[in-house]
Amino acid sequence: MTFNPMSLEGRTILVTGATSGIGKATAIYLSKLGARIVASGRNEERLADLLGQLEGDGHVGRTFDLAQLDAIVPWLKALCAEIGPLNGIAHCAGVQATKPIQAINPTFVMDVLTQNLGASLMLAQAFRLKACHGANASLVYVSSSAALKTAPGNVVYASSKGGIVSAVKGLGVELVRDGVRVNAVAPAMVDTPMSDQFRTILSEDNFKRVVDMHPLGLGQPDDVAAAIAFLLADTSRWITGSILNVDGGFLA
Ligand SMILES: NC(=O)c1ccc[n+]([C@@H]2O[C@H](COP(=O)([O-])OP(=O)(O)OC[C@H]3O[C@@H](n4cnc5c(N)ncnc54)[C@H](OP(=O)(O)O)[C@@H]3O)[C@@H](O)[C@H]2O)c1
Repeated sequence: MTFNPMSLEGRTILVTGATSGIGKATAIYLSKLGARIVASGRNEERLADLLGQLEGDGHVGRTFDLAQLDAIVPWLKALCAEIGPLNGIAHCAGVQATKPIQAINPTFVMDVLTQNLGASLMLAQAFRLKACHGANASLVYVSSSAALKTAPGNVVYASSKGGIVSAVKGLGVELVRDGVRVNAVAPAMVDTPMSDQFRTILSEDNFKRVVDMHPLGLGQPDDVAAAIAFLLADTSRWITGSILNVDGGFLA
Protein backbone atom coordinates (compact mmCIF):
# COMPACT_ATOMS: atom_id res chain seq x y z
CA MET A 1 0.00 0.00 0.00
CA THR A 2 1.27 3.51 -0.82
CA PHE A 3 2.30 5.65 2.18
CA ASN A 4 -0.14 8.57 2.38
CA PRO A 5 0.18 10.53 5.64
CA MET A 6 -2.71 12.76 4.59
CA SER A 7 -5.12 9.89 4.11
CA LEU A 8 -8.59 10.55 5.52
CA GLU A 9 -9.88 7.00 5.00
CA GLY A 10 -12.49 6.15 7.60
CA ARG A 11 -12.99 9.80 8.63
CA THR A 12 -16.27 11.69 8.42
CA ILE A 13 -15.82 15.42 7.81
CA LEU A 14 -18.45 18.18 7.80
CA VAL A 15 -17.69 20.81 5.17
CA THR A 16 -19.71 24.03 5.49
CA GLY A 17 -19.93 26.35 2.49
CA ALA A 18 -19.66 23.26 0.30
CA THR A 19 -21.91 24.78 -2.37
CA SER A 20 -19.30 27.24 -3.69
CA GLY A 21 -15.66 28.29 -3.99
CA ILE A 22 -13.24 27.13 -1.30
CA GLY A 23 -15.77 24.89 0.50
CA LYS A 24 -16.73 23.10 -2.70
CA ALA A 25 -13.08 22.52 -3.64
CA THR A 26 -12.37 21.35 -0.09
CA ALA A 27 -15.22 18.81 -0.10
CA ILE A 28 -13.99 17.34 -3.40
CA TYR A 29 -10.34 17.35 -2.25
CA LEU A 30 -11.15 15.63 1.07
CA SER A 31 -13.25 12.99 -0.71
CA LYS A 32 -10.21 12.21 -2.91
CA LEU A 33 -8.26 11.60 0.31
CA GLY A 34 -10.87 9.04 1.34
CA ALA A 35 -13.09 11.07 3.66
CA ARG A 36 -16.84 10.62 3.88
CA ILE A 37 -18.20 14.12 3.39
CA VAL A 38 -21.14 15.76 5.13
CA ALA A 39 -21.64 18.70 2.82
CA SER A 40 -23.60 21.74 3.88
CA GLY A 41 -24.75 25.02 2.34
CA ARG A 42 -28.01 26.85 1.70
CA ASN A 43 -28.52 26.34 -2.02
CA GLU A 44 -30.11 22.93 -2.68
CA GLU A 45 -29.30 22.81 -6.37
CA ARG A 46 -25.61 23.56 -5.92
CA LEU A 47 -25.46 21.13 -3.00
CA ALA A 48 -26.83 18.34 -5.20
CA ASP A 49 -24.33 19.28 -7.92
CA LEU A 50 -21.43 19.10 -5.41
CA LEU A 51 -22.55 15.69 -4.10
CA GLY A 52 -22.35 14.40 -7.67
CA GLN A 53 -18.71 15.52 -7.91
CA LEU A 54 -17.43 13.76 -4.76
CA GLU A 55 -15.28 10.63 -4.99
CA GLY A 56 -16.28 7.49 -3.09
CA ASP A 57 -19.55 6.58 -1.40
CA GLY A 58 -21.61 7.38 1.66
CA HIS A 59 -21.54 11.17 1.37
CA VAL A 60 -24.38 13.19 2.82
CA GLY A 61 -25.74 16.65 1.98
CA ARG A 62 -27.74 18.92 4.28
CA THR A 63 -28.99 22.44 3.72
CA PHE A 64 -28.67 24.67 6.76
CA ASP A 65 -28.52 28.43 7.34
CA LEU A 66 -25.67 29.13 9.77
CA ALA A 67 -27.10 32.59 10.50
CA GLN A 68 -29.52 30.83 12.90
CA LEU A 69 -27.03 30.74 15.76
CA ASP A 70 -29.41 29.20 18.30
CA ALA A 71 -30.17 26.30 15.93
CA ILE A 72 -26.53 25.28 15.32
CA VAL A 73 -26.01 23.06 18.39
CA PRO A 74 -29.35 21.20 18.05
CA TRP A 75 -28.75 20.82 14.30
CA LEU A 76 -25.30 19.25 14.75
CA LYS A 77 -26.51 17.01 17.59
CA ALA A 78 -29.40 15.72 15.45
CA LEU A 79 -27.10 15.27 12.45
CA CYS A 80 -24.55 13.27 14.47
CA ALA A 81 -27.31 11.16 16.06
CA GLU A 82 -28.31 10.23 12.51
CA ILE A 83 -24.92 9.70 10.82
CA GLY A 84 -22.50 9.21 13.72
CA PRO A 85 -19.82 11.45 15.21
CA LEU A 86 -17.61 13.61 13.01
CA ASN A 87 -13.83 13.40 12.89
CA GLY A 88 -13.48 16.92 11.58
CA ILE A 89 -15.11 20.12 10.44
CA ALA A 90 -13.87 22.33 7.61
CA HIS A 91 -15.86 25.48 8.28
CA CYS A 92 -15.66 27.29 4.94
CA ALA A 93 -19.01 29.14 4.92
CA GLY A 94 -18.69 32.90 5.13
CA VAL A 95 -19.90 36.22 3.76
CA GLN A 96 -17.98 39.22 2.51
CA ALA A 97 -19.31 42.71 1.88
CA THR A 98 -17.11 45.75 1.55
CA LYS A 99 -18.29 48.91 3.32
CA PRO A 100 -16.18 51.80 4.63
CA ILE A 101 -16.86 52.64 8.28
CA GLN A 102 -19.00 55.72 7.41
CA ALA A 103 -21.39 53.46 5.46
CA ILE A 104 -22.00 50.72 8.04
CA ASN A 105 -25.06 50.33 10.26
CA PRO A 106 -25.87 47.98 13.16
CA THR A 107 -27.79 45.53 10.97
CA PHE A 108 -24.84 45.16 8.60
CA VAL A 109 -22.38 44.73 11.48
CA MET A 110 -24.47 42.08 13.21
CA ASP A 111 -25.13 40.26 9.95
CA VAL A 112 -21.43 39.87 9.12
CA LEU A 113 -20.35 39.11 12.69
CA THR A 114 -23.17 36.59 13.16
CA GLN A 115 -22.45 34.64 10.00
CA ASN A 116 -18.65 34.75 10.11
CA LEU A 117 -17.80 34.73 13.83
CA GLY A 118 -20.94 33.72 15.72
CA ALA A 119 -21.47 30.60 13.60
CA SER A 120 -17.80 29.62 14.08
CA LEU A 121 -18.13 29.81 17.86
CA MET A 122 -21.41 27.88 18.00
CA LEU A 123 -19.97 25.15 15.75
CA ALA A 124 -17.10 24.76 18.25
CA GLN A 125 -19.59 24.44 21.11
CA ALA A 126 -21.46 21.73 19.20
CA PHE A 127 -18.39 19.84 17.93
CA ARG A 128 -16.85 19.52 21.42
CA LEU A 129 -19.87 17.49 22.61
CA LYS A 130 -18.98 13.81 23.05
CA ALA A 131 -21.79 12.74 20.72
CA CYS A 132 -20.56 15.03 17.95
CA HIS A 133 -16.87 14.13 17.60
CA GLY A 134 -14.91 10.92 17.32
CA ALA A 135 -11.18 10.21 17.37
CA ASN A 136 -8.58 12.51 15.76
CA ALA A 137 -11.01 15.41 15.95
CA SER A 138 -9.91 18.55 14.16
CA LEU A 139 -11.79 21.80 13.62
CA VAL A 140 -10.50 24.03 10.84
CA TYR A 141 -11.74 27.57 10.29
CA VAL A 142 -11.24 29.81 7.30
CA SER A 143 -10.05 33.21 8.50
CA SER A 144 -8.52 35.68 6.03
CA SER A 145 -5.34 37.66 5.47
CA ALA A 146 -7.69 40.68 5.84
CA ALA A 147 -7.60 39.89 9.59
CA LEU A 148 -3.82 40.26 9.66
CA LYS A 149 -3.05 43.09 7.25
CA THR A 150 -4.71 46.49 7.02
CA ALA A 151 -8.00 46.32 5.14
CA PRO A 152 -9.34 49.84 4.62
CA GLY A 153 -12.99 49.83 3.58
CA ASN A 154 -13.32 46.23 4.71
CA VAL A 155 -13.09 46.56 8.48
CA VAL A 156 -16.27 44.72 9.49
CA TYR A 157 -15.29 41.65 7.47
CA ALA A 158 -11.69 41.97 8.74
CA SER A 159 -12.96 42.15 12.33
CA SER A 160 -15.11 39.06 11.88
CA LYS A 161 -12.09 37.16 10.53
CA GLY A 162 -9.83 38.62 13.25
CA GLY A 163 -12.29 37.24 15.78
CA ILE A 164 -11.65 33.80 14.32
CA VAL A 165 -7.89 34.27 14.86
CA SER A 166 -8.55 35.06 18.55
CA ALA A 167 -11.02 32.20 18.85
CA VAL A 168 -8.44 29.75 17.50
CA LYS A 169 -5.90 30.87 20.10
CA GLY A 170 -8.39 30.27 22.92
CA LEU A 171 -10.14 27.18 21.60
CA GLY A 172 -6.90 25.53 20.52
CA VAL A 173 -6.06 25.19 24.22
CA GLU A 174 -9.58 25.05 25.72
CA LEU A 175 -10.64 22.05 23.64
CA VAL A 176 -7.48 19.96 24.21
CA ARG A 177 -9.24 18.26 27.12
CA ASP A 178 -12.10 17.34 24.77
CA GLY A 179 -9.67 15.83 22.28
CA VAL A 180 -10.32 18.47 19.62
CA ARG A 181 -7.59 20.40 17.79
CA VAL A 182 -8.54 23.85 16.47
CA ASN A 183 -6.68 25.74 13.73
CA ALA A 184 -7.41 28.12 10.87
CA VAL A 185 -6.15 28.91 7.42
CA ALA A 186 -5.85 32.57 6.45
CA PRO A 187 -6.10 32.89 2.67
CA ALA A 188 -5.37 36.04 0.69
CA MET A 189 -7.28 36.50 -2.57
CA VAL A 190 -8.56 33.24 -4.04
CA ASP A 191 -10.36 32.89 -7.36
CA THR A 192 -14.00 32.20 -6.27
CA PRO A 193 -17.46 33.76 -6.71
CA MET A 194 -16.76 35.79 -3.53
CA SER A 195 -13.60 37.39 -4.95
CA ASP A 196 -15.34 37.87 -8.33
CA GLN A 197 -17.89 39.99 -6.47
CA PHE A 198 -15.11 41.96 -4.73
CA ARG A 199 -13.41 42.47 -8.07
CA THR A 200 -16.48 44.24 -9.51
CA ILE A 201 -15.91 47.20 -7.17
CA LEU A 202 -12.25 47.64 -8.21
CA SER A 203 -10.95 49.50 -11.26
CA GLU A 204 -8.62 47.54 -13.60
CA ASP A 205 -5.62 49.38 -12.11
CA ASN A 206 -6.64 48.67 -8.52
CA PHE A 207 -7.28 45.01 -9.33
CA LYS A 208 -3.79 44.76 -10.89
CA ARG A 209 -2.34 46.32 -7.72
CA VAL A 210 -4.10 43.66 -5.62
CA VAL A 211 -2.78 40.87 -7.86
CA ASP A 212 0.75 42.32 -7.65
CA MET A 213 0.57 42.09 -3.83
CA HIS A 214 0.58 38.28 -4.24
CA PRO A 215 4.14 37.22 -5.24
CA LEU A 216 2.84 33.76 -6.28
CA GLY A 217 -0.24 35.22 -8.00
CA LEU A 218 -3.86 34.79 -6.91
CA GLY A 219 -4.81 31.53 -5.23
CA GLN A 220 -6.99 28.74 -6.54
CA PRO A 221 -9.57 27.05 -4.26
CA ASP A 222 -7.50 23.83 -4.27
CA ASP A 223 -4.53 25.72 -2.77
CA VAL A 224 -6.65 26.39 0.32
CA ALA A 225 -8.28 22.93 0.24
CA ALA A 226 -4.81 21.31 0.47
CA ALA A 227 -3.94 23.36 3.56
CA ILE A 228 -7.29 22.51 5.18
CA ALA A 229 -6.70 18.81 4.44
CA PHE A 230 -3.28 19.03 6.13
CA LEU A 231 -4.91 20.53 9.25
CA LEU A 232 -7.59 17.80 9.31
CA ALA A 233 -5.22 14.87 8.76
CA ASP A 234 -2.78 13.29 11.21
CA THR A 235 0.01 15.25 9.49
CA SER A 236 -0.93 18.09 11.86
CA ARG A 237 -1.57 16.04 15.01
CA TRP A 238 0.91 18.20 17.02
CA ILE A 239 -0.61 21.48 15.81
CA THR A 240 -3.38 23.36 17.59
CA GLY A 241 -4.14 27.05 18.05
CA SER A 242 -2.32 27.90 14.80
CA ILE A 243 -3.12 30.18 11.88
CA LEU A 244 -1.68 28.93 8.59
CA ASN A 245 -1.21 31.72 6.03
CA VAL A 246 -2.17 30.43 2.58
CA ASP A 247 -1.59 33.61 0.67
CA GLY A 248 0.91 33.36 -2.18
CA GLY A 249 3.35 35.47 -0.14
CA PHE A 250 0.85 38.32 0.51
CA LEU A 251 1.92 38.69 4.15
CA ALA A 252 5.62 37.92 3.60
N1 LIG B 1 -12.24 34.05 -1.91
C1 LIG B 1 -11.34 34.72 -1.22
O1 LIG B 1 -10.53 35.50 -1.78
C2 LIG B 1 -11.22 34.52 0.27
C3 LIG B 1 -10.09 35.04 0.92
C4 LIG B 1 -9.98 34.88 2.29
C5 LIG B 1 -10.95 34.20 2.99
N2 LIG B 1 -12.04 33.72 2.33
C6 LIG B 1 -13.03 32.99 3.13
O2 LIG B 1 -13.18 31.71 2.60
C7 LIG B 1 -14.50 31.23 2.86
C8 LIG B 1 -15.10 30.73 1.55
O3 LIG B 1 -15.16 31.82 0.65
P1 LIG B 1 -15.43 31.63 -0.91
O4 LIG B 1 -14.55 32.59 -1.60
O5 LIG B 1 -15.40 30.21 -1.25
O6 LIG B 1 -16.93 32.22 -0.98
P2 LIG B 1 -18.21 31.83 -1.85
O7 LIG B 1 -17.80 31.23 -3.14
O8 LIG B 1 -19.05 33.05 -1.83
O9 LIG B 1 -18.90 30.70 -0.96
C9 LIG B 1 -19.46 31.02 0.28
C10 LIG B 1 -20.10 29.79 0.85
O10 LIG B 1 -20.60 30.09 2.15
C11 LIG B 1 -21.94 29.63 2.26
N3 LIG B 1 -22.68 30.49 3.18
C12 LIG B 1 -22.67 31.84 3.26
N4 LIG B 1 -23.49 32.25 4.22
C13 LIG B 1 -24.04 31.13 4.77
C14 LIG B 1 -25.00 30.91 5.80
N5 LIG B 1 -25.56 31.92 6.47
N6 LIG B 1 -25.32 29.64 6.10
C15 LIG B 1 -24.78 28.60 5.44
N7 LIG B 1 -23.88 28.75 4.44
C16 LIG B 1 -23.53 30.01 4.11
C17 LIG B 1 -22.49 29.72 0.85
O11 LIG B 1 -23.60 28.85 0.75
P3 LIG B 1 -24.84 29.08 -0.28
O12 LIG B 1 -24.22 29.64 -1.54
O13 LIG B 1 -25.40 27.70 -0.46
O14 LIG B 1 -25.75 30.03 0.35
C18 LIG B 1 -21.29 29.28 0.03
O15 LIG B 1 -21.22 27.87 -0.03
C19 LIG B 1 -15.27 32.39 3.48
O16 LIG B 1 -15.28 32.24 4.87
C20 LIG B 1 -14.43 33.59 3.10
O17 LIG B 1 -14.59 34.64 4.01
C21 LIG B 1 -12.21 33.85 0.99
